[in-house]
Order: sequence, then C-alpha cells, then structure tokens
Amino acid sequence: MKPHWASVQGGRRPWQGLLLTACLLALWTPSAMSQLRIESVPPNAAEGQDVLLRVHNQPANTQIYRWFRGATTEEAYRLAAYSLSSNESKPGPANSGRETILPHGSLAVRNVTVNDSGVYTLDIFDEDFTSIKASGQLRVFAKLPKLFITSNNSSPVEGEDSVVLTCDPETQNTSYQWWINGQSLLNDPRLDLSTDNRILTLLRVTRNDTGPYECAASNLVSYNRSDPFSLNVSYGPDAPIITPPGSNVGQGTNLSLSCHTASNPPAQYTWLFNERPQSSTPELFIPNITANHSGSYACFAHNSVTGLNRTTVKTITVFELVTQPSIHASNTTVMEQESVVLTCHSRDPEITIRWIFNDQSLRLSSRTKLSEDNSTLSIDPVRREDSGEYRCEVSNPVSVKKSEALLLSVSYDPAQSSSDLSPGAIAGIVVGVVAGVALIAALAYFLYSRKTGGTSDQRDLTEHKPSASSHSRDTSRDNSPNEMDEVSYTSLKFNAAQPKEPTFVPPASTATEIVYSEVKKK
Ligand SMILES: *[C@@H]1O[C@H](CO)[C@@H](O)[C@H](O)[C@H]1NC(C)=O
Ligand SMILES: *[C@@H]1O[C@H](CO)[C@@H](O)[C@H](O)[C@H]1NC(C)=O
Ligand SMILES: *[C@@H]1O[C@H](CO)[C@@H](O)[C@H](O)[C@H]1NC(C)=O
Ligand SMILES: *[C@@H]1O[C@H](CO)[C@@H](O)[C@H](O)[C@H]1NC(C)=O
Ligand SMILES: *[C@@H]1O[C@H](CO)[C@@H](O)[C@H](O)[C@H]1NC(C)=O
Ligand SMILES: *[C@@H]1O[C@H](CO)[C@@H](O)[C@H](O)[C@H]1NC(C)=O
Ligand SMILES: *[C@@H]1O[C@H](CO)[C@@H](O)[C@H](O)[C@H]1NC(C)=O
Repeated sequence: MKPHWASVQGGRRPWQGLLLTACLLALWTPSAMSQLRIESVPPNAAEGQDVLLRVHNQPANTQIYRWFRGATTEEAYRLAAYSLSSNESKPGPANSGRETILPHGSLAVRNVTVNDSGVYTLDIFDEDFTSIKASGQLRVFAKLPKLFITSNNSSPVEGEDSVVLTCDPETQNTSYQWWINGQSLLNDPRLDLSTDNRILTLLRVTRNDTGPYECAASNLVSYNRSDPFSLNVSYGPDAPIITPPGSNVGQGTNLSLSCHTASNPPAQYTWLFNERPQSSTPELFIPNITANHSGSYACFAHNSVTGLNRTTVKTITVFELVTQPSIHASNTTVMEQESVVLTCHSRDPEITIRWIFNDQSLRLSSRTKLSEDNSTLSIDPVRREDSGEYRCEVSNPVSVKKSEALLLSVSYDPAQSSSDLSPGAIAGIVVGVVAGVALIAALAYFLYSRKTGGTSDQRDLTEHKPSASSHSRDTSRDNSPNEMDEVSYTSLKFNAAQPKEPTFVPPASTATEIVYSEVKKK
C-alpha cells in the first residue's frame, strides 16, 4: 500500500497529504486512500442524453476498473468491469445495456433516464490487487413534457364556485410558475397555490377571473410553458340598461327601445308592456304609437346557467304633438296709459305657455301680468315701448309651436312726452350730474381734509350713487327691474369721470377701481 500512496502523493508536503486524507475519510469509506475523483459530464443531464462519469487522478498502474450502481462494491450491483490487459469492457449483473467502461476507466451511460440518477462507484485495482474506490453522482432530469392546464370546473358561476387549476403533467424536481393575463400572480387572498406551485386555486371566481392562465415548468435542463387557458365564468345578468334614456315620446312616432345587460352566457330578454309580454328580443319596436302606449315597459333578462333574473322598468309617456296656438288682443291699437289684454289659445292639454316679444322672451315688468297658466298677458298701463310683435309659444315635453305674430301699436300724444328726452337734453343732464358730483366731491374733499382719515372712499361712492339713480328715475321709468341697468350706466359714467376730477383724491384709489369694474360688468 505504501508505494502507491507515495506515488499518488508525489512531491506534496506532508500537511497537504494529511488534509487530503482527512477529506477523503470524511467523504468516503475508511479504505479510501486516494484522491481518485469522479466527475459527471454534463453535471446535470437531460433525459435521453449520453453521460460520461469521468475518472480523475487515477493511479498509474491500474489493472482493472469496476463500476457499481450505488455506494457499494457488491457484485450484484456491478455495471461493468474493464481489464487493461484485455482492453475489454464486460457487463456486470446490473448492466442495462447502456453502460460501458471506456479504455481510460470512465463510465459512459447512454440514453440516460431519470431512474439512472444516483450514486455510482468506481473500484480500481492496481497490479498488486490493491483496491482504490471513489464514487460520484449522476443527475438526470426529465425533459419536461408539453404542459397543459386542467380545471376541475368547466363553467364555474361567479361568486359561488371555487376552481382548481392544475399544471399537468407532474414531473419530479420541477418548479412551476403561473401567469394570469400575462402577469405573475399577485398577492390576492382569493388565490391559493400549492406548496410546489403546481396547483392554483381560485376562491369564489368572478367574471374578471376569465384569464387567460398560463403555467410553466422548469428544471436544471429544460423549460416549458403551457398554452393559454381561459376560464368560462358564468355571471349575470346585471340590472338591464334600457336605451334611449328619455321617457317622453310624441304620438305617431316610432317607439324603439333597446335593452342590454352584462351576462355570460348572453341573457335571454323579454319585453313586457304593462306586464304583458311583447317580444323576446333585446329590441322593442312599436311603430306609430298612440296615447294608450303610455305605461310601464319592463325589460326582463334571464341567464339560464346562473339561473338569475333581473328586470328594469321604464315608464313611457306618450304626448300628442302640440298644435299651433292662436293669439288675440283685447285691442291691437291702444293709447298710452290705457291697458291691453293678450290671450293665447291652445286646444292641447298639459302645455306650457311662453310669451315672445319682438322675437325675444318677454321680460316682465311691474306693468305686465300673466295669468296663472300663462295664457293671458295683461299690460297696464301700456307704454309706447310696449308696441311691437307678440307671439305665444306652447310646448310639451315632445313638441313646441309658436303662434302667428300679433302687432300691438301704442299711440301717444307727442306734447305729453314726459319720458321722451332728446339726446341734447340727456347730454345736459349728464353735464349737470357731473357738475353736481364735482361739487359734492369738492365738498367731500373739503370735509375730508378737515377731518383727516375720517371717511373712506367706499362711503363717498355710496353717497353719490343715490344722486345718480334719482336722476335716472327722472329721465326714464319708475321702479321697474330694468331700472338697474340705467342706474349702473349712469354710475359708470360718474365713476369713469372721476379720475378727471383733480380735487377728488381718494385715500385708496384701488377701491374706486374695484367698484368701477363691478359696475362695468353689469
Ligand atoms: C432511449 O430510451 C428510451 C426509453 O427510455 C427509448 O424509448 C429510446 O428509443 C431510446 N433511444 C435510443 C436512441 O436508444
Ligand atoms: C373544484 O375544487 C374546489 C376546491 O377544492 C371545490 O370547492 C369545487 O367544488 C370543485 N369543483 C368541482 C366541480 O368539483
Ligand atoms: C429530486 O426530487 C427527489 C424527491 O422528489 C429528491 O429526493 C431528489 O434529491 C431530487 N433531485 C435533485 C437533483 O434535486
Ligand atoms: C371586475 O373588474 C372591474 C374593473 O376592474 C371592476 O369594476 C368590477 O367590479 C370587477 N367585477 C367583479 C365582479 O369583481
Ligand atoms: C317608423 O317606422 C316605419 C316602419 O314601421 C318606418 O317606415 C318609418 O320611417 C319610421 N319613422 C321614423 C320617423 O323613423
Ligand atoms: C298612425 O296611427 C294613426 C291612428 O292611430 C293613423 O291615422 C295613421 O295613419 C298612422 N300612421 C302611420 C304612418 O301608420
Ligand atoms: C289602444 O290600443 C288598442 C290595442 O292595444 C288599440 O286597439 C286601440 O285602437 C288603441 N286606441 C287608440 C285610441 O289608439
């Protein structure tokens, strides 16, 4: 034994030899006295490959190689033996016909299977029939087969069924992975994976769980991905939606309603009118409808798989199209200060009446009054500006019609024209107002300079406004809503004129500007 030991050790220092021996003792049987080593090429083999278990550091004077299946040298597990003298590999009892020893001692295993995985032992005899042993691992991985996903329920019902998806077939030493809609699995409490990731459980599926699902399997030598798999989740129907949304229709038009609901499989629809079945399509069409088509229209949706029903009811009111109204006046020519009554006549029920003056919606004043149903318009007293074209307009939810125009003329005595001012007179009044304002401003300034910091600019303005509006009251009408415009207009002039007044220096000029812009907006 010693010579072989020395030859194997070569020129190594003693401590290296000790270390090595310790390692070998730890790794292998106490009789192992060599650094003989086995290497698998490739280290991880795919099923069907040819694998070589190579021998490293074998002694120079080897005579016989013997290979065994497992960590043993029992004859029953011998795969083959090779004698260098005969240059011949002879199969042993455990040989499958695929194991051969090559001239330099390596074991070739052809067309490996997963079952070939495991420990292989080499026993070498030298010329003194001294035995040296070593063993190594052969790792064979299955070539992963085509994968497919199976489900334990082909048409689960939303909110009820849980589904188990399995990535098949199962192979050893394989890791599995899943994708839903091309995304890795999210941390969803409704998703449950088996410990080997091969089985995916979906708890209480929803319509959003349709997928597609894909699974992949991988080991050290191969990778395979399944075809996408989609889950046919039955759901619905949801509450049907009826279109169009309007509920008022004109008599003589066609009623065309459409019903839709989300449902898988598609819902069966039934239309009911006042609870009597009409059609079993999503569309309901009734041409040339009449007043007795008013009522409730129900769309009933049924899903034969989920067994669920949902109904939406819509109330339709059929309106006759309004006819043209007529307009009458107590008198079409009136004197100023007299009164007049205009009447709108319509045969149609349930109408709304609107009055139109000179093609614009009539603006009511204190002199104009409407009856409760708007059918009568009284003007008292009449003014010359009331002359013009009057129309009334009747409408219901589906139609609108205007009357012919009625021309109202208001005659007046020109001599009595209190409210008629020539442009010259207006100019005179404006000049007067500006002068008055200047005087008041001067007075205000005088008071202000005496009582320094006493009054604010805002107060000055509010003091001036009444003078301006009282003037406008003189020139135009009484307290009608329109008066506001006049007031604003005059105030605007006054404010615009202000900066020209050198005597009026407001303590905070910005305040003036803010008020000015507010007035301007009117
Ligand atoms: C490899 O072994 C498999 C069975 O494991 C066999 O079906 C196949 O024909 C073999 N291939 C070759 C090339 O021997
Ligand atoms: C499928 O598996 C789930 C979870 O185990 C179970 O709840 C469900 O009843 C199964 N479905 C069918 C059709 O067997
Ligand atoms: C393969 O899996 C088996 C158990 O299924 C395990 O004992 C063995 O060590 C694994 N082989 C490899 C190379 O991981
Ligand atoms: C399905 O997804 C949509 C959009 O993400 C969501 O609004 C809806 O509530 C989901 N439906 C169910 C039944 O989970
Ligand atoms: C109403 O329906 C009839 C067919 O029933 C069609 O001829 C007609 O054009 C439709 N009218 C309108 C306004 O769509
Ligand atoms: C619609 O119905 C009315 C009576 O209900 C009838 O007079 C009219 O001719 C009908 N119109 C069409 C287009 O059928
Ligand atoms: C009301 O409807 C019935 C049938 O539903 C029809 O026979 C009748 O002519 C309709 N009446 C009117 C006034 O359109």
